[in-house]
Amino acid sequence: MLAIYANYEIIKRKIREVNVRIEKSAALSYRKKENAGKCCELMAKGFNVAIDGPAGAGKSTVAKKTAEKLGFLYIDTGAMYRAITFAALAEGIDLHDGKALGKLLEKSELRLESSNEGTAVFWNGADITAAIRTNEVNSNVSLVASHREVREGMTAMQQELAKSKNAVLDGRDIGTHVLPDANVKVFLTASVEERARRRHLEQLEKGLPSDFEQLKKDIAKRDELDSTRAIAPLKQAADAQVVDTTSMGIDEVVETILDLVKEHSRQ
Ligand code: DC
Repeated sequence: MLAIYANYEIIKRKIREVNVRIEKSAALSYRKKENAGKCCELMAKGFNVAIDGPAGAGKSTVAKKTAEKLGFLYIDTGAMYRAITFAALAEGIDLHDGKALGKLLEKSELRLESSNEGTAVFWNGADITAAIRTNEVNSNVSLVASHREVREGMTAMQQELAKSKNAVLDGRDIGTHVLPDANVKVFLTASVEERARRRHLEQLEKGLPSDFEQLKKDIAKRDELDSTRAIAPLKQAADAQVVDTTSMGIDEVVETILDLVKEHSRQ
């Protein structure tokens, strides 16, 4: 299990001192792991894979599996925005107040623990992994994530977490803002209909009530908010490879990304 700590105050100090740079690995060698199918191992530090795309395109499942296959760190940046949304709601902070949210982030400790089961999220030591997936967080996270103060803090943390590490990051602005020099950039997408269908099935599998038409509306609304916000909107990076997952299975998508990594490592 790997724990990654992100304290924005400490990071801000570090950034001032060392002027954070994203270092691209100079030389990469690729070899197939024995008995591991197409799984590969990259023998270099600081190889970053950026996976961006709209809600429900399968980013987190795909990013987690890809990271597992590569033996890379997985950083779920959506979970970070969800964490501050949950904390702000719990503390009764006005979600329109970017300054207050920025302050909340500065004084708090956000910790992600990656394991085979997924990413566990801790806010000031409290486990909020399940709490960040509620409908209340779903419907407020885009607003919280739209504030400059929040994005600056999160971006600095994400850059620090990924620095000099082999990592797969998924989010909305990884290839465009967080890691513009990422070695491989993927823009994962799927039709609204298909993304709503996947969420609907997920909910039903968990035994939770689900309204397909409402889900479609919610997803379309979140797409709109995320892609029209002023700061670091959801957008395909010019050098990203678009992967439309509408009629693809998870393993197929993972293989596609692994192929891109392999291709890159041969260059
Ligand atoms: O991937 P997700 O659904 O868990 O992300 C939750 C929200 O966080 C999403 O609606 C937009 C925001 N987000 C963002 O603005 N930038 C990121 N890099 C990741 C997520």
